[in-house]
Amino acid sequence: MSRVKATVSKVNLITILGACLALSCARVGVAKAAPGKGAAPFDPPAVYLTWLHDPTTTMTIQWHSNGGRDDDVQYQRLDKRVWHTANGSHHPMPHSDRIVHVAELTGLKRGTDYRFRFSENSVEFKFRTMPRNTKERIRFVVGGDTMDPLDMLDESFEETSRLAAKQDPMFAVIGGDIAYANGNPGLVGRWYNWLATWKKLMVTSDGRLIPFVVAIGNHEVQGGFNQTPEKAPYFYSLFALPNKRSYRVLDFGRYLSLVLLDSGHTHPIDSEQTDWLRQRLGGRQDVPHLFAVYHVPAYPSVRQFDNGVSAKIREHWVPLFEQFGVDVAFEHHDHVYKRTHPIRAEKIDPGGVLYLGDGAWGVIPRKPRDRWYLAKEASKQHFILVTINGQNRSFLAIDSEGQIFDQVNQSASYAKTPQ
Ligand SMILES: [Fe+2]
Repeated sequence: MSRVKATVSKVNLITILGACLALSCARVGVAKAAPGKGAAPFDPPAVYLTWLHDPTTTMTIQWHSNGGRDDDVQYQRLDKRVWHTANGSHHPMPHSDRIVHVAELTGLKRGTDYRFRFSENSVEFKFRTMPRNTKERIRFVVGGDTMDPLDMLDESFEETSRLAAKQDPMFAVIGGDIAYANGNPGLVGRWYNWLATWKKLMVTSDGRLIPFVVAIGNHEVQGGFNQTPEKAPYFYSLFALPNKRSYRVLDFGRYLSLVLLDSGHTHPIDSEQTDWLRQRLGGRQDVPHLFAVYHVPAYPSVRQFDNGVSAKIREHWVPLFEQFGVDVAFEHHDHVYKRTHPIRAEKIDPGGVLYLGDGAWGVIPRKPRDRWYLAKEASKQHFILVTINGQNRSFLAIDSEGQIFDQVNQSASYAKTPQ
C-alpha cells in the first residue's frame, strides 16, 4: 500500500497566531439552572463525556454523586423540545465515598447539539455528536502527562487546559499519566481535582463539554509496569471502557480510527495485545485517518533508546504500524515536545510513520536528547491541535503561552478514500 507522504512546513507565526486569536472566543457558562423549585439544582462534582461506541451517533456520560442511586439521564436535541431518558448504571469509586454513574446515549443524530440533565432540578450541560464525514473540519487536541506530580494546585494543568479549550476542539485524547494518583488510596483527591478542573475548563466557546478518551500510563497504576487491572483502581472505575480493558479501538464512522494501547502497565505489550492490534489494524487499512495512542514512546526523546519498554514496542507494535498504514503514533511519558521524521524499518523514510509526543501537558518539561530520528524537539509544556479536512490533516504544537511552535502537514494516501 502506498503510504502517506508527509510535508513539513515552517510556521508563519504571525499568520497562525492571528488565526488562533480569531478562534479564541469568550466562553459562556456551561451550566444553566433548571427552573427552581426551592432546592439548589443538582450539580455533580464531576461530569465528563467519553465514548464506548461510534462518536457520530453515541455519547457516554459519566458523573459522580455522593451516594445517589439515580442513573437516569434526560436529553434532548437543542432544536427540539422533547426530552428522552437513558438508563445508566453505577458503581462505587474505590477509596472514596463517591458513586460513579455511567449512561450511554445511542441513536443520536450526527453533528448535532444536545443538552442533558439528571432530573428536572439539575444543572444542564451540552454536547455535540461528531459529524458524518470529514467534509466538516474535524478538530481535536492530544496530550498526556497532564498534572504535575508535585503540584496539588495543578496550575499548569489548568493553564494548558484553558488554552486547549480555546481551540474549540471536538474532543481530547489523553495519553496517560493523568492525575498522578498512582492508584494510591491516599491520593484520591488528585482525581477529584483533575475531574473538577476538566468540568470547569474543558468547555467550548458555546458551552459544550469537551469529551475525552484516555490511554493508560504508569502513573495510573500501583507499581507502574507489569501489573494487573486491580492495581489501577481509579482508571478502571472512572472511565467507561469497552470490555473493561485498557486497550481498544474507537471508530469515528469510517473516516477516523483511534487505536488506544496499554504500553505494559496492566496488560503486556506482546502476545494477546499484539495479536489484537494486528487484527484491528488489518481491518482498518482503508480508514483515511488512522492513529495510535499510547503512553511510553517507541522513539523516546529523553529516556534511553534501548530502554526495555520502548524496545518492546518497537519490536511488537511498530512493524504493525508500518505494515497496516498507521499515519501517526501519539506518544507520551518523556515530558518534552517531539516530532520525529517519518520512520520505516528504523530509518528515516518519507513513507514512514510519524511519531508525535512526548507528553508535557502539565508536567515540568525535561531536556530532550539529540537523536537521529528527532526532527523537532522542545522543552515546553504543550498540547497538539489536530485538524482534519477531507484528506488533509495538520498538527500544530501549541505551548503554555498559546504560541504555535511547530507544525506538520500530511495528506491521506490515495489508497485510503475518505467516506
Ligand atoms: Fe509516564
